[in-house]
Parts: sequence; structure tokens; C-alpha cells
Amino acid sequence: MQKLTFPKNFVWGVAASAYQIEGAWNEDGKGQSIWDTFSHTPGKIANGETGDVSIDHYHRYKDDVARMAELGIPTYRFSVAWPRILPEGSGKVNAKGLAFYDRLVDTLLKHKIEPYLCLFHWDLPQVLQDKGGWPERATAYHFAEYAHIVTARLSDRVGVIMTHNEPWVAAFVGHFLGDHAPGSKDLGAAIKAQHHILLSHGLAAEAIRAEARQPVKIGITLNLNPVHPATDSKKDREAAQRVDAIMNRIVLDPLLKGTSPIEEFALAKLLTGKVIQPGDLEKIRMLDLLGVNYYSRAVMKHSSKIPVVNVEQVHPAGNEYSGMWEIYPEGLHELLMRIWKDYFTPSPFDRLRAAPPASSRSTPLGLPKGKGEGGMPEIMITENGVPVPDGLDFDGRIRDERRIRYLQNHIAQVHRAIQDGVPVKGYFHWSLMDNFEWALGYGQRFGLVYVDYKTLKRTVKDSGRWFAKVIAENGMIVE
Ligand code: FCB
Repeated sequence: MQKLTFPKNFVWGVAASAYQIEGAWNEDGKGQSIWDTFSHTPGKIANGETGDVSIDHYHRYKDDVARMAELGIPTYRFSVAWPRILPEGSGKVNAKGLAFYDRLVDTLLKHKIEPYLCLFHWDLPQVLQDKGGWPERATAYHFAEYAHIVTARLSDRVGVIMTHNEPWVAAFVGHFLGDHAPGSKDLGAAIKAQHHILLSHGLAAEAIRAEARQPVKIGITLNLNPVHPATDSKKDREAAQRVDAIMNRIVLDPLLKGTSPIEEFALAKLLTGKVIQPGDLEKIRMLDLLGVNYYSRAVMKHSSKIPVVNVEQVHPAGNEYSGMWEIYPEGLHELLMRIWKDYFTPSPFDRLRAAPPASSRSTPLGLPKGKGEGGMPEIMITENGVPVPDGLDFDGRIRDERRIRYLQNHIAQVHRAIQDGVPVKGYFHWSLMDNFEWALGYGQRFGLVYVDYKTLKRTVKDSGRWFAKVIAENGMIVE
């Protein structure tokens, strides 16, 4: 038995997103989002389910926040629904939409829970989609306008604003694989969307800096996976490298190095023309907080299954799987070490000697000054969790031992990375409550809190109490 203790001030939290929990899809002047459209289109979501009502957090937020407080959860990462604030995507502000997040933030603060606000968790206003959506450059500028409005209203009380959640998923699963809204299958559109979402991060960061009522930490949350070749063959190794470039480096390089792998690929250039305009990459490099969402690794082989990139994902036999992914805790350590090695070393001071900062507003990394250490962005795990087919036992308890084991093994890998020199500053569990899991509907339960989808009654699972203990002790006992 050994106690793993986390550094003082380590940030423990839980995460959720607007479309997945709020419901109230057409209330109080909210505009339609691409997820409303997508979920209302037959055949897109398992069992024809939608987020129309979801778990009704829009009306039950007070109870939900109180439950979080009871568990001693100190930090909550939530997202704002853009179409609640700007039903037309830009222009006229919907006061009732802003008022909801005002009430939510006040309730969190009343319970001493720190809000981490995310501006975009995939619910683009449908009107902007009708004008071309993320593959259109103009959308990035509308996003900055939206960021400005939310910052003006909430930054007196919110000290951390994350621009995007998983830009790769929004771009590629939404525009190339077609499993998420808006559901197109066009690689060129996906690459354009990817660049414009990152550009919008930079434009929004400028807007947030300009409008913030206090020094606000600006973050972004990325889905990142170690990519392993299925075999040691040259073809499979190259397949893994392609996937690493198109999934991981496509978001990490612009944010942390000011370069983009898009420029390396002739095909990408052919499909997108001059998507990256002069000055764009400098704008994107604005970051105080790098959020890492980790669920699994990707094992890839060369194949024509996914066209153009010529890869196929394989699932090695004999390993453990959840309802969605392979369970692979070591991947979290590997990923953190890789991010640290490839993007954070040499230290910013070495880089300063090599290349002086571009502007006085910048830090040695070329990043704007924020609350991060010496201008270096902080790293946090902003999502990690596992779907488990939970249910109530006869005594009303939910014994989700698999989730507890998953969390224990993954949190231990975060601790290991810290021991190995990566200053990880926080860990957020996905998710607070069971909720709408996108194309999979309500079939996959990720919560620390169980939700009965008929009555919407909430029950804290064993994992919720276990996580509460980890938070209270700032660590855990492992075998
Ligand atoms: C992530 C998403 C989140 C949730 C989890 C399971 O990709 O950010 O909304 O769906 O996966």
C-alpha cells in the first residue's frame, strides 16, 4: 500500500457540456444549434434520441451545483451554448440566455466552486452553419464577437475561459467522418474547419484579453491520443505517423509551436488552397492553459478503410475495452511525457535566447502573459472517464467498481507523470452526471452521478463518493 499525494493547490474538478445536459433546447429565446438539427435528423443518433430535454440541467442547475458542493468538488468545467447568447450567431444578444449563465456562475460561487467556462463544446448556431459553418473563415470572427460578449458579462466572476473543447473532434468527426454535426464527409472541409476553429481561438483570446475584468486565464481543451502502429512494419509505422499528424500535431503545433502540419501535406494544400493566411499562426499562439482530454490510445495500420489518409484503427485482442474505447491507462503518462518533451522543452528561457519574443505583450514562448508559470501554459487533464453500464442495486446503491478502477489507474498515471517532471496542475473527471453521449445517445453512462432518464432523479454512484475522498485527501492509496 502506498499513498499518492498530489502537489499543493492541485485542481480537482468535474466537467460537463451545455448540449449534453441542459435540455431546454428552444426555451427563453435560444436559437437552434447544429446539434439540434443533427439530433432531429432521423438515423443520426442511436435510438433517435435527442438533447431536447436531456437531464434538464437548465432547470435543475441549483440542485446539481448543491450536489457537487456536497461532494466537495472545488472546480466545475461547463460550456456556454452559443445559440443561447446569440440566437442568430452574431448581432442581437439574448438577455435571457446570458442570465442563465449568470445565475449558474453565481450559484457555483455561492458554493465556493470555481467556474472554468468553455465557450464552445460543439453547438454552433445553425444560422452560421447555413452560411458555411467552420469551413468558412467568417465563422472565426463571429466566434470572437461571442467571446467578447460572454467575457464582458462574466469575467468579473470567472477567472478561466477555455475557448474550445476538442477542436479536432468538431472538425474531423463533424466534417470528415460525418458521425457528429454537421455530418459532412469532406476532408477539405474538415481541414478548413480545423484551421478556422484554431484561428477563432486566437481571435477570441484577443477579445477576452481586451474585455476581461480581471486577469483571465485563457485555455483550450484538446483530445489527444498516443498513436501506436499495429505492427512494426514500415507501412504501419508511417500510418501511425500520419494519424499522429492529422489528430495530434494538427492542433498542438499551431498552438504551441506556431507551425502547422497542414503545410507539410501536399494533399491538404491541394484541398484547402490558402486556408492558412499570413499572420494566422501568430494569432493562434495565445495560451495560458492547455487542457488535455484523455480516454484511450489509437492503434493504427495501413489500410484503405479510411480513404485518403489510408489507415484503419485496430483493436488488439486480449486488452480491456469499455463500451467505447480500449482502456489503456499507461497512455496518459506516455502522452503527458510526449507533450512535455515535444512542446515544452527546451524551456521557454532557452527559446528566448534563440528567438526574442515577437512583441512586448508576449512571453518567451511567444505566448501572451497570463497567470501561467513564467508565461508557459499550464497543463491540466480536462477530461478523463469511462462509460459503464451502471444500474441501481436492490438497495439503491450504484456499485460502479469498474469506473473506480479506471479512475484510480489513470490518476496514478497523472501522478507518475508529475513525478517524472511534467507539472500537471489539475484533473477533471468526465462527467459529473450521466448525459447525452452525442451520436450514441443515452446509451453510455459517464457520470459520477447516476441519472434515471425517466424520472431524471439523480443518485451519487460509489465512484462519486470515491472521487470525493480523493479530492478531500488530495491523493489516494494504491496497492
Ligand atoms: C469527449 C467529449 C465529451 C464526451 C466525452 C466522452 O470527446 O468532449 O463531450 O462526449 O468525450
